[in-house]
Amino acid sequence: SDKPTLIAHTLNLIVDKIHTTLQQQEKFTLALAGGGTPKPLYEALAQQSLPLEKIHIFWGDERYVSAAHPDSNQRMAREAWLDQVDFPSSNIHPMPTGSNDPSVDAQTHDQELRDFFGVEAGEFPTFDIILLGMGDDGHTASLFPKTEALTVSDRLITVGNKDGQPRLTFTYPLLNHARCIIFLVAGENKRPALAQIFSPDGDETLYPAKAVQPQGELIWLLDEAAGAELNG
Ligand code: 6PG
Repeated sequence: SDKPTLIAHTLNLIVDKIHTTLQQQEKFTLALAGGGTPKPLYEALAQQSLPLEKIHIFWGDERYVSAAHPDSNQRMAREAWLDQVDFPSSNIHPMPTGSNDPSVDAQTHDQELRDFFGVEAGEFPTFDIILLGMGDDGHTASLFPKTEALTVSDRLITVGNKDGQPRLTFTYPLLNHARCIIFLVAGENKRPALAQIFSPDGDETLYPAKAVQPQGELIWLLDEAAGAELNG
């Protein structure tokens, strides 16, 4: 499908899951992706009528910049969606980036998540949906090829590394405890990495998105340009 069709499909999937899940439970937890691809999705979510007081928003990764910085994933989602609607501010749970030490902020957010979900050390919470993107190098969240962050298994949040710049990121075990992971991937530049990820010989340390294998549902949503080489 083309990109607008992909976005419309993703929107329907998320909105359906929110409504269905909230028939069984009080809160819906949604982790957002950064990057450019999901922006029209967030704009479309802003047009929906949703039970915002029951929806809690998190981010799967964050660049180590202030919330006002143009590169901030939080800023993008606020501008496209959260600030456009009457979202209760206490339901928005951004990654902190203000301590001058990314590992301190990672630890702070780890504890915030444990407190919110009520999980002990050594346990991992289950997000209802984690939305992820994939870079053309096969990274997802801020889990970059051949970086230390790929090996972290004892906590929820760690410090990722993009060409020497720190970022905060969900760890693999946190991602893999999700009830549902949705990868939203568009564009021709994503084809080579997708080919590796869907090949049995693809290497997970070179293509980190490949190691995202949640206990729940795993859904890859691709536009025509990204998915072309996977057919046949
Ligand atoms: C980020 C991300 C990252 C992103 C991919 C794809 O903060 O950059 O969350 O993992 O999803 O880099 O980005 P694009 O959608 O811009 O291609």
